[in-house]
Amino acid sequence: MESFGGVLQLTVRLGQVSMNSETSNDLMSKIVSLCKRRGFIFQSSEIYGGLRSCYDYGPLGVELKRNIANEWWKAMVYEREDIVGIDASIMMHPRVWQTSGHLSGFSDPLVDCLNCRERFRADKAPQHKPGTEMTFHKGGKSSGEKLRANVNERGYVCPVCSCPNLSAERQFNLMFKTNLGPVDPTLEMLAAVEPSMTPEQKRATVDEIAAKSAVYLRPETAQAMFVQFLNVQQSMSMKIPFGIAQMGKSFRNEIVVEHFIFRSCEFEQMEMEYFCEPGTQNEWMKYWCGERMAWYKRFSNKDDNFRLRPHSDDELAHYSDACFDVEYLYPWGWGELEGIASRTDYDLSKHAEATGVKLSYFDQNKPDPSTGKNGWRYTPYVIEPAAGLTRSVLCFLLDAYHEEKGVDHEGQEKSRVVLKLHPKFSPYKAAILPLVKKDGLPEKARSIVKTLRRAGLNVSYDEQQSIGKRYARHDEIGTPFCLTVDMQSLDDNTVTIRDRDTAVQQRIKIDDVLATVLNRINSDKPSC
Ligand code: GAP
Repeated sequence: MESFGGVLQLTVRLGQVSMNSETSNDLMSKIVSLCKRRGFIFQSSEIYGGLRSCYDYGPLGVELKRNIANEWWKAMVYEREDIVGIDASIMMHPRVWQTSGHLSGFSDPLVDCLNCRERFRADKAPQHKPGTEMTFHKGGKSSGEKLRANVNERGYVCPVCSCPNLSAERQFNLMFKTNLGPVDPTLEMLAAVEPSMTPEQKRATVDEIAAKSAVYLRPETAQAMFVQFLNVQQSMSMKIPFGIAQMGKSFRNEIVVEHFIFRSCEFEQMEMEYFCEPGTQNEWMKYWCGERMAWYKRFSNKDDNFRLRPHSDDELAHYSDACFDVEYLYPWGWGELEGIASRTDYDLSKHAEATGVKLSYFDQNKPDPSTGKNGWRYTPYVIEPAAGLTRSVLCFLLDAYHEEKGVDHEGQEKSRVVLKLHPKFSPYKAAILPLVKKDGLPEKARSIVKTLRRAGLNVSYDEQQSIGKRYARHDEIGTPFCLTVDMQSLDDNTVTIRDRDTAVQQRIKIDDVLATVLNRINSDKPSC
């Protein structure tokens, strides 16, 4: 059963991956539930039953996502002189996708199960040795008759019911197609298709008419950075090596959507194309692998859950001479978080060939290797660190989720959930809590809120429920510091500052609150 509700949807696909079930389900269910309960991520259009693989970021989720994106932008653009950013449109000229190969080659092998009708990706299906006898239930229903069949030479079975009786594989293009302009090609198609035509002729006629006004939602942000290479290089007088960074939405009509926001049809990417001299790509690849791993580890709690995996030769795209994946140890096993590819001069060369525009670079100080004379025009090579923003949200939520048992001041056993997000990622940087809602404490607390907000910090003023419940709420949403205003605050202008991860409280002067909070947020690995 395909359910569109968040928790159920993730469990539907868990059967397809190699490990886990119990633990994976458990942790992911807790994350999905926390996300909904605390306003991080909701199922899109939930009151209408939800929409497959579409999610809305709630008040805290939008802050977490934005904070991750901002830190990426800071590291890739603001802190460097050799990288600039762009924000290109999602729809591009359709020829871009023809040239890049996405129209002909950006597809996955699609298969239908002839027993339960599940549609799935052949390359992600459970593998079994040809000849292995499989048992499955008729129609995929547990009440259905028990049947047996052998795995054929394709060596895989249906991920849902384990049946080896499958349709032929067909290529399914992952790009979303739409029409630009006030055109509805349907009428033209209906008029052009004749009953005497073969199915192939009908298909070709329909495709030809559709192609006239067809545009595509971009499946990656990368292509705009190749297409705008010259404009950016010339307008900003960039010298090789230099990079163009972009983040934003991408769209893929994924056959398998899985693990909550891990793989969805609408998602966000953070990509950078680093243009370098031919022959220097290996050294830049090494450099970017190091930078990107260091970036993840700067914000993580468990560094060992991140690793770099080199692609084997048969995994490499035909235009790529090397590729590494930054992988994270998700509850279901290691999986991709970012791809770092050496794309050679493929993209610039292809777009130059298709448009006749010279997408090259002239270095007047370098000798041309073919003549030995000063002045070398070449097509730059490219190293591309391509990260997923929405996938990073999931990864950092998993990394931060922490449960611990302890005893309260009355000796009662209690457990607490703490989201140990790096303070730079935390939706609220601090919560300001008047101990009681009277005696001038709210006013005192609000004056601290004002100071922190004026300094640009997103902080929460919270006076609802007991102080213990407020601490628990802020632990669960990752607020790194709780500042409690009590009666003593009125006498000596001090507050307590409670650290989310250690629960240790200290008394500090209200005058020092801003500096203390800023200092702790900006220290590289704070208390965790
Ligand atoms: N320009 C290269 C490129 O797009 P990719 O490996 O297909 O490479 C880069 O995508 C990153 O984008 C992935 O590592 C992943 O984090 C994210 N990503 C790709 N497809 C995704 C999807 N369907 N849902 C969520 N994130 C996705």
